[in-house]
Amino acid sequence: MFSKSLDRCYNIAKLRERAQKRMPAAMFHYIDGAAGDEWTMRQNTSAFDRWELVPHFLVDVSEIDMRTKVFGQEISMPFFCSPTAMSRLFHHHGETGVARAAHRAGTLYSLSSISTESIEEAAAATEGPKVFQVYVFKDRGLNREFIQRCKDSGYAALALTVDVPIAGNRERDLVTGMTIPPKLTAATLFNFAMHPRWVWNYFTHKPIELANVRDRISGDVTTLVSFFNDQLDRTVSWDDAEWMIKEWGGPFAIKGIMCADDARRAAEVGATAVVISNHGGRQLDTSPAPIEILPEVVDAVGGKLEIILEGGVRRGVHVMKALALGATVCAAGRPYLFGLGAGGEAGVDRALEILKTDIERDMRLLGCRNVSEIDASRVREIPR
Ligand code: FNR
Ligand code: LAC
Repeated sequence: MFSKSLDRCYNIAKLRERAQKRMPAAMFHYIDGAAGDEWTMRQNTSAFDRWELVPHFLVDVSEIDMRTKVFGQEISMPFFCSPTAMSRLFHHHGETGVARAAHRAGTLYSLSSISTESIEEAAAATEGPKVFQVYVFKDRGLNREFIQRCKDSGYAALALTVDVPIAGNRERDLVTGMTIPPKLTAATLFNFAMHPRWVWNYFTHKPIELANVRDRISGDVTTLVSFFNDQLDRTVSWDDAEWMIKEWGGPFAIKGIMCADDARRAAEVGATAVVISNHGGRQLDTSPAPIEILPEVVDAVGGKLEIILEGGVRRGVHVMKALALGATVCAAGRPYLFGLGAGGEAGVDRALEILKTDIERDMRLLGCRNVSEIDASRVREIPR
């Protein structure tokens, strides 16, 4: 089904290697990089090592059921695609390519506010359930408009991202000279020349633009830092979240929750879900790994809110640990973006297949016939 080289990518790390070969440095490092010393990004995955998995045997695992529910939608596995910006920078298949692949895998797709294909284009690309991620713009009219457009296009849920009051310190982007859209300069020319396929596709497909807001923003949006700092509203508060939740009236997540207090507050203002996330380590470096925060959030709002664990998830065992510690589902960004960079839509299919196969194998090895059996009995904290 896949090209031989995608087939040979037997895990997410291999897809990442292939993506690095296929993409200009500015694009690869924008995905792969994080804030400051990137401690949080590394910790997001390595903190899973604090827990061991405890299998139970002599269980008939010939048939297992990996389905679960989040945002009122049934999905084929306890994993979905997090929102990520500007997919067409990485491959011209873009957001609609990822959305189609997510639908084929039977899971949710999340579209970023700052996508390169619009709310309506993503909706038209596939019937699969979709989440729209909201950044609050200074132009508050835009936010009302987002909500209406998502209603009109049948989105399943909204997720308000709260961890970007300002841009994070992405030092790799300073090194590579990442701009929106990318610029061919004397410094980057050689690297772009090494990726003729990407350059060809870039120039032979529609131009890169922030499709949801294209006619509504002015000022300097050539770098992520200037974009965030000029366009996004730093005054956003819990009152705004409450307003948005009421205005939307459907499943609603607050994305970027990193402590029990904020999770409780999310429940009070009427959210239906929290996404425990540090933005993949791209915002406040040295903030803790989501998996470390999960137990206290489960104590605070477990049973009241859906709890989505996101950041550093690269393997089925990470999903097992998160569910065993009380998460409803997991989500991830970079794994499918590496797939997109490595091979467009087919690469995203491959990323999702890798994760799905892994989750299925691990459930059988753990002795879990369905997602609810992945409970506290399957996990053990290594004494420190
Ligand atoms: C992101 N993320 C993100 N989050 C968000 O709410 N809106 C956005 O536009 C983006 N854009 C974005 C771009 C890229 C290239 C990456 C890698 C990430 C964060 C994303 O939703 C998620 O929190 C992280 O990707 C989770 O970490 P992992 O799964 O990449 O380890
Ligand atoms: C990022 C923004 C777009 O993480 O959320 O790059």
